[in-house]
Parts: sequence; C-alpha cells; structure tokens
Amino acid sequence: MNISEQCCAVILAAGEGKRMKSALHKVLHPVCFKPMLRWITGAVEMAGIDKICIVAGHGLEQIREEIKNYSIAVQAEQLGTAHAVMQAVSYIRECKAANVFVLCGDAPLITADTLSKLAAAHKESGADVTVATADMPDPTGYGRIVRSKSGDVVGIVEHKDASPEQRKISEINSSIYCFKADYLLEILPKIQNNNVQNEYYLTDTVALAHTHGRRAAAFVLDDPMEILGINDRVQLAFVEKIMRKRINEAHMRAGVTMIDPERTYIGGDVKIGCDTVLYPNTTLKGITAVGEGCEIGPDTMLCDCVVGDRCTLNRVYANVCEIQANVTMGPFVNLRPGTQILSGAKIGDFVEIKNSSIGHGSKVPHLSYIGDTEMGDGVNIGCGAVTVNYDGLKKHRTVIEDGAFIGCNTNLVAPVTVGCRAYTAAGSTITNNVPEDALGVARARQENKADWVKRKRS
Ligand code: UD1
Ligand code: CA
Repeated sequence: MNISEQCCAVILAAGEGKRMKSALHKVLHPVCFKPMLRWITGAVEMAGIDKICIVAGHGLEQIREEIKNYSIAVQAEQLGTAHAVMQAVSYIRECKAANVFVLCGDAPLITADTLSKLAAAHKESGADVTVATADMPDPTGYGRIVRSKSGDVVGIVEHKDASPEQRKISEINSSIYCFKADYLLEILPKIQNNNVQNEYYLTDTVALAHTHGRRAAAFVLDDPMEILGINDRVQLAFVEKIMRKRINEAHMRAGVTMIDPERTYIGGDVKIGCDTVLYPNTTLKGITAVGEGCEIGPDTMLCDCVVGDRCTLNRVYANVCEIQANVTMGPFVNLRPGTQILSGAKIGDFVEIKNSSIGHGSKVPHLSYIGDTEMGDGVNIGCGAVTVNYDGLKKHRTVIEDGAFIGCNTNLVAPVTVGCRAYTAAGSTITNNVPEDALGVARARQENKADWVKRKRS
C-alpha cells in the first residue's frame, strides 16, 4: 500500500545514550556497517514515507553531520518522549500529513513491511492512535500494555510506574506508533509529568484517548525482535547479530552460498550475484556489488567495490576499486582507491596496487607494488617489480604499454614509459623510457673473478 501522501514520521533520538559510554551518539553507532538511525530512516522510506523529522538534542552536531536529507527538530532538554514529539509539532503542521508515525532512533530492526502493516491496521480500525506492541519473553524495563476485560487497550504503564500485578503483563509498548495528526496535535499539550520519572510520557496518549472521546488500538507484531532497542554495546552486538542473519539469509535465498554465515559480514547496501560463494571472514560493505559465480574469501574485505562475474578473490583487501570479470587475485592483495583491474587479469600473492589500471589479461603475479600506473593489456610483471612513483615531493605516473614484459625486481622510476612489447632486464632500475620492441637494461654488467675463492683461502 502506498502510504506516503498521508504520512510523515518523527524519529526520537535526543536521549544521551549514557550506557553506550561513547563519544559517538548512540543512534550513529553502526549496525552491519550502517548507522542505526539510517536503518530506521531506510525502513520508513521503503514503507513509502519520505517526510521524516528527527528529534535530536544530545550529539546534535553529529546528527546534523550524518543526516543531511531530513528535517531535524531540536529538543534542548530531555523532558520525556511526549516532550520530544512536541518539538516536531511545527514540522507536523507544515507537512499537512493526516497521520504521523513515531519511532525511536535506537531500534534499528524495524522493517518497512511491519510499518506498512501498522499503517494498514491503523487505517482499517479508524483508531486515533495505534501502538505497535509485542509479547516479550522478558518484558522488564518496557512499558506494559493495559487492556480492559473486553481486550481494548486502555493505557500504557511504564515499568517504573507499574504495580507488581502490572509487571506480570508480557505485552509491551514498542514505542512505534501511528497517530492521526489532529489527535496527536490536540493531545500533546494535555500530557502531564506526574509520574515516577517526572517526564512527559508519549505513552499517555493512549489512556487520554479514552477521556477525550477518541480511540486507541494496538497492533501486535509477529516478531518481537523487530523492536529490540539498543542501550549498551552488549545489545548493540545482539542486534547486529540479528541484522547480520537477516541480511545473510536474504542473500542465501537469492542464490549466494555462504560457507559459514555466522562469519560472513555483509552491509545493507551490498549486491551479490547468484552462485557466488563467500568463504569465512569475508566482509562486503559500502556500495559494493559482486557478480555471479565468484569465489570471495576467506579473509577478504571489499568496501565500495564493483566486482564482475567469475572472479576469485582470496585474501583481498580492496577499497573503492573496480574489478572486472574473470579476474583471479590473491592470496594477500591490497588494492587501494582508484584501482581498476580489467577482465582476465591475474593479481598474485603479496601485491599492492594503488590508483592504477591493470589491462585485460595482464599479470602481476608476485611481490609487487604498482602505484599511479597505467598498464596495457597482456603485460607481464616479473616477481618483485615495483613502480617508484614518489620522489619525496610528488607522485608520478608510470605507463606500461600492451604486451610489455617487466623483468623480476625491476624498478620503474616514474615518470617513465615502457613501450609496447618492450622488455626490461631483471634487476634493472629504469629511469628512461624504453621504446617499443626494445630491451631496457639498466644494471652493472656481471664480472666473474676466476679462482677468487681459492685465492682468498691461501
Ligand atoms: C520508552 C517507552 C516505553 C517503551 C520503550 C520501548 C515512554 C515513556 N516509554 O521507554 O513504554 O516500552 O520506550 O523501547 O515513552 N527521547 C527523546 N527525548 C526525551 C526522551 C526520550 O528524544 O526527552 C528518545 C530517546 O533518545 C529514545 C526514545 O526517545 O530514542 C525512547 O526513550 P527512552 O528514554 O529510551 O524510553 P524508554 O524508557 O526506553
Ligand atoms: Ca529505550
């Protein structure tokens, strides 16, 4: 269902998050490599709501830095969840939305599907406020849903305010709500702070509905795990594990093999083609896309990389790179930003490549550093050859044309060009261009001192 036109969302994130013991604001801590707040805005957007306002207070500057595409309402003092929503009142008015979602910035497992279902239930029942609830195996700390004998939701009591009897209730408040905007705007100013915490509770909107001739309803979630909140790093790790499982299972169902899904770490914005096999300790993050029929890992990390079909990447660490189809790499390869490996190339063990392009079918099989280099097709780089790209002040480029053969342990002192099909002799330090089809030799000629050993002994 398309709910965009009638809805806006307010995400509460002004709390301090003390228990994280962190200089980074709680809602910006990454879950599967993405700030938790981004997971929530992502789910809200996927549910078709693009009008989003974040209520921020603690760590305001950090949140502004991260969140540039949404509105931010400032709550300078944290006087409770209702007070937080009050800071977004002018935003809600400006949106002219008929319905307002309220969510918490520290519960990143909520899905677009659940939000859509909540909106549908809200619409169907015609309630003024619909609160998403869940049956929690351990409800400690949560607000409890109080129902009448006939099953109607009559109120929410916070754990701290609850009687021993009420604490036995296992149905809890998820802190995800859908309000009719007119009801929310009417009721917010009427909420009092006469409770144990002296806070303005948003939960009071439920009991107040009854005294104001309005209707409250509950929408019970299928999966209580979706509303797990994060208060400390133990919970962060727990939520991360659930998110990881969710991401990995989606890829496996789409045709990706994971040798050990518990040791495979995939970000939310990663695409992987079918019949690709991921070996343990593989991390794929950022905007990374891996083609079909690849073998990735073990011990491989790709960030913001595009990898073509049928590549083998064994113990590769790559950042902001393009790797075309049919490339084999590793073990122990470090690709730094701006590197492009064209199809059919082979990069072997202990090779570092930076800001370079490696041509079709070219080979850099062992122990090389290639930096700021433009390499043509069908080039062979001997073991231990390096480009000398830095003179202490500036970086310079090396050009190695099609079919060139660079002998073992050659130093190519940039700027320098090795022409098509040219050779360099092993051990050469090449400081001048080598013309096409030539052999560049730049080393002292060998001299054998006959009987040197015998003379030494006598
Ligand atoms: C809240 C609910 C509780 C529910 C639980 C679910 C209230 C009174 N209680 O309790 O019923 O079971 O969430 O996790 O609403 N925040 C602000 N400004 C404030 C206070 C809070 O922005 O002045 C934000 C926090 O940053 C957080 C969210 O609101 O993201 C929830 O606040 P928190 O203090 O964690 O409420 P809980 O005690 O967990
Ligand atoms: Ca909380």
